[in-house]
Amino acid sequence: MAVNILAVGDVCGRTGVEMLEKTLPAFKRLKDVSFCVVNGENADHFGISPKNADALFSHGTDVITLGNHVWGQRSLLARLDEDSYILRPANLPPRAPGRGFGVFESPFGDVCVINLLGRHGMDVLSENPFAELDRILDAPEVKRCKIKLVDLHGEATSEKIAMGLYADGRVTALWGTHTHVQTSDGAPLPGGTGYITDLGMTGAARGVLGLSPERVLERFLGLPAERSEEAPPPAKLEAAIFEVDEKTGACLGVEAIRLE
Ligand SMILES: [Fe+2]
Repeated sequence: MAVNILAVGDVCGRTGVEMLEKTLPAFKRLKDVSFCVVNGENADHFGISPKNADALFSHGTDVITLGNHVWGQRSLLARLDEDSYILRPANLPPRAPGRGFGVFESPFGDVCVINLLGRHGMDVLSENPFAELDRILDAPEVKRCKIKLVDLHGEATSEKIAMGLYADGRVTALWGTHTHVQTSDGAPLPGGTGYITDLGMTGAARGVLGLSPERVLERFLGLPAERSEEAPPPAKLEAAIFEVDEKTGACLGVEAIRLE
């Protein structure tokens, strides 16, 4: 039997959190979504607060993944150690708070979710995500999961495509986050891994990656710029649905989603 797994692109600011609240519960029912992973690292623009993590969970998120702004909200640090449903990138130092992967119960058995950080063009010093993926996939509790999902939070399309091919046949789905621009390459790879280079973002639809065009333009024009602020609504939600054979863990189809 096939099940639908939803991955939602970077939720940006109040507009993104409100868009998730407005659309996610009904959309999950409409598409018969059984499991939902949301990248929440921009929910407070620079990181996510415990309050916004609670909001994402109450709107239908099963697991939150993060990225380069993982340490942006100091109030999250203690929560990362306590709450296994919020993942930070796995390829950070072992003594960093929180964990980079987890095994979660679902209606169709245990699901492993892994969060990785790209290294190409990123502003965080991290370990090799390819080697980290190998290490995680070797863990006994991960090996026994049929369904394994990976969020690779990275800037470079080349690194994300390479990781997709590296993981093909070993994980159920691998998607990219961070660039906030949805790509059109969503499809199962030859080995059965569902792949998309970037999910896109959830937040202001007419901004520059979620931020006010006026503020961003001041910077590009070389003018004195105020601190960046969130662009106003309307909002969009960008995501992908992975149709998965629950018996084999293989991905049967990938549908890119944009709701406005
Ligand atoms: Fe990011």
